[in-house]
Amino acid sequence: MEAQKRCLISREDIAQRIKELAAQISRDYPGRDLVMVGVLKGAFIFLADLVRALPFPVVVDFVRLKSYGAGTTSSGEIHITKDVEETLKDRDVLIVEDIVDLGLTLDFLRKHLLTHQPRSLKICCLIDKRERRQVEVPLDYTGFVVEKGFLVGYGLDCAEGNRTWPEVYELLNC
Ligand code: IMP
Ligand code: MG
Repeated sequence: MEAQKRCLISREDIAQRIKELAAQISRDYPGRDLVMVGVLKGAFIFLADLVRALPFPVVVDFVRLKSYGAGTTSSGEIHITKDVEETLKDRDVLIVEDIVDLGLTLDFLRKHLLTHQPRSLKICCLIDKRERRQVEVPLDYTGFVVEKGFLVGYGLDCAEGNRTWPEVYELLNC
């Protein structure tokens, strides 16, 4: 069945917001040794665009977490399937995530990375999806706020589909 979809965030909107986020981040970390930790797979496109919008180089690392199965609801259980490789102790660390829904994933990752004793730990997420939040996580940089819906594109997937679309769409028959 063809996916029924509605464009929610255009390429232009994404590009503009990334410029603004990069400006904010560069003001907050002037001349600092910043490690940006992308959450695979969803954040890879956002992270790639964000680091290239920054006026200084940063160190990039990744974690891979699994919470969703093949469908659109979280199992509630989070597993690390790939951990960070950088030493985070006494360094400024910024988590880069695609979307926050229940909040369980970022809550888990935040607590996990705090055990590495970074100098600071902040979170940058592309989309804050409000409606179903169960755990409040501190979001220091947010690209867009949406109330609800299952979103795909620009890194976000539905059962591995639609990840490479350059805009963000809401799937209407997901
Ligand atoms: P939660 O905040 O623990 O519910 O999980 C957030 C994770 O679930 C994100 O990293 C995404 O991988 C996935 N996720 C949540 N909502 C969506 C969505 O609308 N589209 C695609 N993935 C989503
Ligand atoms: Mg994700």
